[in-house]
Amino acid sequence: MSEVRFTFDVASFVRRAVEEVKAIVGDEKAIAACSGGVDSTVSAIIAKLSIGDKLKAVYVDDGFRRRSEPEYVVELLRRLGLNVALVDAKEEFYEAVRGLKDAEEKRKEFRHAFYKVLSKAAHEVGARFLVQGTIASDVVEAVKGVKTQHNVLVQVGLDPRAYGLEVIEPLKELYKPQVRELADYLGLPPEISNRMPFPGPGLLIRVVGGVTLEKVEIVRKATDIVEEETKGLKAFQAFPVLLKGKATGMVNWRRAYGYIIAIRIVESEDAMTASAKEIPYGVLKRIAKRIIEEVPGVVRVLYDVTDKPPATIEFE
Ligand code: XMP
Repeated sequence: MSEVRFTFDVASFVRRAVEEVKAIVGDEKAIAACSGGVDSTVSAIIAKLSIGDKLKAVYVDDGFRRRSEPEYVVELLRRLGLNVALVDAKEEFYEAVRGLKDAEEKRKEFRHAFYKVLSKAAHEVGARFLVQGTIASDVVEAVKGVKTQHNVLVQVGLDPRAYGLEVIEPLKELYKPQVRELADYLGLPPEISNRMPFPGPGLLIRVVGGVTLEKVEIVRKATDIVEEETKGLKAFQAFPVLLKGKATGMVNWRRAYGYIIAIRIVESEDAMTASAKEIPYGVLKRIAKRIIEEVPGVVRVLYDVTDKPPATIEFE
């Protein structure tokens, strides 16, 4: 990966990628799966430069996004000149993962729902090409079997044609720092180029084990708090995770048996390795206090000090 980083020529990469997309799509149409993250946005902009109005961007609301994220992202992408549709697939995704407890099963069912929804969106506009923002770290982890990635099919032996799609992955050989360089080169705003990575399956994999709407809402509220309180820290990622079990606590001197939240704040360059960030104790205490006070049902907050490896960044 470091070889790519040191020899990376942004201008010629863009020129080549634009030509490649044009050569593949020809006179046909394509959709671009957009999450608002830097990887998918850069991919969509490259495709837009390549095929212009024959590209339709699609933002899938799977119900596992952060608060107000769908509306915010769609507006942001429109301001970049992309023609974006917001697809509300919350029910479909929830049905797909309801009752599942195993991390890999959850990820696989999410991936299946993701491509089903995109397939429908593509066929509605008469497209068979799907542009997606898969990057090298996603591919490496999926191929090594560390975890199923929501946006990796071909490299793990699956055929996108099963969904009636051909995938185009302009960034599949790049790591995050190069993608951020591309974003700057393409003139994307800092809200995009510096955006904190958020996993494709979103809050689904930040509820460890079986997911319920109540648990998703708990982790969503805690996410607001962690993001607010860590804004100034410049961490690679900072987020809460709702753990599986419950613990004893007390509220107003009465027994409260409730949920446990772990806070994960890491430094990383490219997500391949990461270190747990040293956080001022006052910040951690404030996060814990706010979560206990503002997120009903949570009685305990922990800080994860494990590096990657051996832990991964996400818990699932
Ligand atoms: P892990 O947990 O594998 O995460 O150390 C490495 C980076 O990838 C993000 N992540 C994902 N991104 N689809 C994605 O697009 C996924 O399925 C996925 N799983 C993890 C994670 O947030 C971190 O930045």
